[in-house]
Amino acid sequence: MLRKVNFYSICFAFGLSVLLILAGSRYTDNINYHPSIESRRNIRNFLRVEDGENLQSMYEPTITFPYYDSIDIEKLLNKTSFKIKYDLSTYNFEQSGVQKLDDLLLESGGKPIRSVIVSTWRSGTTFLGEVLNAMPGNFYHYEPFLKFEIVQIRGLPLSTEALSNIKNMLRCNFEGMEDYFEYGKKHLNQFRHNTRLWDHCKYKKELCFDAEFTGRFCKLFPFQSMKVVRVRLRLMQEILEDKELNVKVVLLIRDPRGVMQSRQHRDFCQPAPDCWKPELLCADMISDYVAAGRLLKQYPDKLMVLRYEELALNPVGTTQYLLKFLGLGMTPSIERFLSTHTSVEVAGVSSTFRISQDVPFRWKNVLDFNYVDDMQTVCKEAMDLWGYRLAHNSSHMTSKEFNPIMEYSVRQ
Ligand SMILES: *[C@@H]1O[C@H](CO)[C@@H](O)[C@H](O)[C@H]1NC(C)=O
Ligand SMILES: *[C@@H]1O[C@H](CO)[C@@H](O)[C@H](O)[C@H]1NC(C)=O
Repeated sequence: MLRKVNFYSICFAFGLSVLLILAGSRYTDNINYHPSIESRRNIRNFLRVEDGENLQSMYEPTITFPYYDSIDIEKLLNKTSFKIKYDLSTYNFEQSGVQKLDDLLLESGGKPIRSVIVSTWRSGTTFLGEVLNAMPGNFYHYEPFLKFEIVQIRGLPLSTEALSNIKNMLRCNFEGMEDYFEYGKKHLNQFRHNTRLWDHCKYKKELCFDAEFTGRFCKLFPFQSMKVVRVRLRLMQEILEDKELNVKVVLLIRDPRGVMQSRQHRDFCQPAPDCWKPELLCADMISDYVAAGRLLKQYPDKLMVLRYEELALNPVGTTQYLLKFLGLGMTPSIERFLSTHTSVEVAGVSSTFRISQDVPFRWKNVLDFNYVDDMQTVCKEAMDLWGYRLAHNSSHMTSKEFNPIMEYSVRQ
């Protein structure tokens, strides 16, 4: 009896404290949020979570509210739009081909500048995605297909859902995407990279699970970026030909030897043939090459191909070139991102944080030549097309003289 009473009183006390915590943490808007803490946390996330594949570890139980105040929501949207205006007050919109901010806002009947990075796992998309997200007023549709887990989407049947999701999201329409939100409830990482949305969701997780809110929030932003590592370029034709969306696509390619070396450290990769087999990676690279040639001919100003190694060797120049292609101007925030992520050592953060000249070529000193040799046998054609030089033997591979990259061009 006594035990039972104790049990109930403990339950009661626990319940009461949960209620108190909930009352105390009632949503507060984050305009006054301290950026120094925020940016440090982001830096850690950036390091820890790459390509969002920490499928198991990202689960976090969430506290759900039965409802939230509609007044709070209106205020939040209002403040967000005010903040975007403020952050872009010195931006020259002529660089984006328009007169003023409103011309880029869905909410005001304008058309946002939209970009999609198409790539595969461990090819530098995290870095490139963060560069674009350093742009003020950017809404980052981080990898929307985590829910498909570790597969490549090369055609039917998965492509139907994938393409319709991409189009809807770029229109800020999240209706009918229950799978996406359900997956996100258990894998908050799906939302965390969309920093401007996450700034609010981290206080009130269910905002991120709400299709209507996400859609309204998204419509306030003049720039939208997305990265997909599971959809092959060929399929993006359907997105490129959508004149209304007016999307620009960046195909990011990396030396398969660097990709495979980087994937070796990822638990998510090994059980999945699409991730683990170099012959599948390289077949996709050939398919992407052919698709790139065709699409560049059809849409010369809407597709850009980029090799990760070029980005790593010349981050500033390559970023300038990329921004120009996308119709974006360089901003102090992007400059700051590049300088903190490419040269300066951030306190307490290991050197892997930096993207520097040796990062793309680390595989040379890490991989076993027999493995590289086997890979080169199945990847020769893909490597020839994309301008990656073969290593002849172990000493050649590790020598300083061996430069793995050479000139290439996409035949149209
Ligand atoms: C939105 O914000 C503006 C400027 O801060 C203010 O004048 C306006 O009353 C606000 N509207 C609502 C509905 O809160
Ligand atoms: C390794 O390859 C290089 C470059 O082709 C060649 O000059 C060298 O003789 C080779 N070394 C051995 C041990 O085969």
